[in-house]
This record gives sequence, structure tokens and C-alpha cells, in this order.
Amino acid sequence: MRTLVKNVYEVGVQDWDRRLFDELIPLPDGTSYNAYFIKGSEKSALLDTVDPTKVEMLIDHLVKAGADKIDYIISHHAEQDHSGSLQDMLRVYPGAKIVTNPKCKSMLMDHLHIGEDRFIEVQDGETLSLGDKTLQFIYTPWVHWPETMSTWLPEDNILFSCDFFGSHQAASNLYVDDEHRVLEAARRYYGEIMMPFRGSIRGNLKKLEDLDIQMIAPSHGPVYSRPALIVDAYKDWINEDKVSNMVVIPYVSMHDSTRKMAEYLVEALMSRGVGVKLFNLTVADIGEIVIELVDAATVVLGSPTVLVGAHPSAIYCAALVNALRPKTKFVGIIGSYGWGSKMIEQLTAVMGNLKCEAFEPVLAKGMPSEETYSALDELADNILDRHRTLGIV
Ligand code: FEO
Repeated sequence: MRTLVKNVYEVGVQDWDRRLFDELIPLPDGTSYNAYFIKGSEKSALLDTVDPTKVEMLIDHLVKAGADKIDYIISHHAEQDHSGSLQDMLRVYPGAKIVTNPKCKSMLMDHLHIGEDRFIEVQDGETLSLGDKTLQFIYTPWVHWPETMSTWLPEDNILFSCDFFGSHQAASNLYVDDEHRVLEAARRYYGEIMMPFRGSIRGNLKKLEDLDIQMIAPSHGPVYSRPALIVDAYKDWINEDKVSNMVVIPYVSMHDSTRKMAEYLVEALMSRGVGVKLFNLTVADIGEIVIELVDAATVVLGSPTVLVGAHPSAIYCAALVNALRPKTKFVGIIGSYGWGSKMIEQLTAVMGNLKCEAFEPVLAKGMPSEETYSALDELADNILDRHRTLGIV
């Protein structure tokens, strides 16, 4: 239990051991499930709960914060890492009501089978008085679910933003102490779940513009005592025109042909002053790839042919890129085959969401030849040319 300001406490839990989220997202630094307890002069409120595996620590922290009574449990988001302990909280604090928006209420009833009589619905902009402290609810949907909202505490100028602005890190420091490290984790987190919803995030940022925010308290990772750090980063990440002189090359290779091609392309791009990140999909942390996808101008996917199609690891990567819809402007495919291949058609179809210009694919039959390397040089020239047109080289 830690104190943010007088009568506002962080009562959440660090999950040092967790290494995977949604059975998909690697968590190299664990994560935290932040929850906040606010003691007003008349009423008290708990903002979010924790993952159900950690509920006992939440209860311990609430006892330490003197939470002998909770009137309201604010539920910002129905996902289990924040709402999964709601039923336990309702048992421990039988007089408490869950305060949330209609969409989140409906989802909580579906996911947790909570009775309708336990809820108080609030609308966008509505306020709830705790006496000397006021909670104002601001709908901030699609960061990454449709129901998410934030809470503004005007007396202390604190925004409780739930997943929005968060980062997956277990850490002992309450506030950001290493801005570079937190930004990298926040960028990974944004890329993994929020990137497809850039349009909604743009609207959410606009709604927050007029607030004099002194502190952002998200539901994962450290609290921002300098909100501009993360708000400015988000403005950059969602800016469709702001891409970097970077080519991301995720590849997989079975008998070295595709590896040789990928490595040749890396050298060709480097010699032309174009930034490159090469990822061997067999061992790569997908979070590292996503960090680069946040603003890389170009993606080139490399795959050999398995039977007649792309390697399953390449299909997996293509599906991931397609789902995350990065602001990438150009896409390419390179690879190899033994006697025939449908992988170009297959990978192109899997990446159907991407609205970017496609380069002519480069395929080698067997080991890459001089002709293959010339085609890769041409691809590197074309990438350089396109990056120049964007003014990023
Ligand atoms: Fe941290 Fe979308 O839950």
C-alpha cells in the first residue's frame, strides 16, 4: 500500500512472475494490477480491483489503507485483470455498489454473473461526490475494449486512466523513475493492444485536453508525475504521418535460403542509410517486433515454402501484423521455394487489413542466385526511394 496524495492510496499488486498475457503477449518484466482507494469525507471508493489470483493482497492493502467501508467500486474496464476480483470485493464489502457505464455493466454481468442490483450506471462526464473529493467519469473507449472509461479527480488533479497510458512492469517504485524504460514498456503495451484503435485514441486524447492533469495513475505500471511524458508519446504514436526510417524484417528460414536473402537485404539497406531491425521468428519476442511496428515505415516479411504455402511462423506473424494494423506505409515479401509456391498469395491475403503500398516480391528457387541478389538490391533502392518521398531519410 502506498500513498499518492492525502487520502488517495495505491492498493494494487505487483505480479513479478507473470510472463504471458492473453496466452499471447510476453511480459519480460511481469506486470502490475494497480487499484486505488480514495477516502472522501463522506464516502469512499475503490477504483478497479486486481487479477483474481492476487485478491488476497488487495484485501491486505485495503486493510492497511483503513478501508473499513467501501461505498463505491469504480469499474473502468471489464477485463479480468481489473475486474476479476469484483465478486470477492462485493462479499468483503457487502454494502458496496459497482459504479460503471452501461456497456461495462453489461459485460461484467456476462463475464462475472454479477446481479444487476449491484450496479450504479454513470454517463460520460457524470460526477459522483465522496464529500471533499469528486469523481468525474470520462468515457475513453477502445483502449482496447469498447467499454473502458477513466476517472478524473479534480481536487487532486489526478487522472485514473486504466489501461490507457499503462505499461506492463512489476516495479517497486510508485512513480516513473526511469523515463526511457517506462516509455519503452508503454510503447510495447500500446503496440500490442491499442495500436489498431488509433482513431479512438485520438478522440480520447482530445477529451482530456482541457484537464489540468498533474498525475496520471494507470492500471498497469508506474504512476506518471510528469504526464506530458506519456501524453506526448501517444500523440506521436497515433500520428499517421509520423513514421521512422525503419524497415522491420521478420523472417523464418529452414535451409538458409531465406536467411541469406534477409541478411543480404539488411546489408543493402544499411549501406543506403535505411534503418533495419531483423527478427528471426523462431526465437523472436513478438513484443520486440511490435515495438518497432509502432512507427516503422516499412515491413518486409521473409518466409520459405512449406509444402506449397508460407511457413506457419510467417503466417502467424502476418496475422499479427494484420490484426495490429500498424501505420506502416510499405510492405514487401521475400522468400524461397523448392518447386512451387503459393506463399505470396497466402501472405498477401492474411495481411489484407494493411492499407499500404506493396513492393514487388522477391522469390528464390532454391538457394538465392545473382539474379535474386540483384532483385534484393532493387528492393532496397525502392525502399530508399519511398522513404525519401516521406522525407524520413
Ligand atoms: Fe489491463 Fe485490458 O486489461
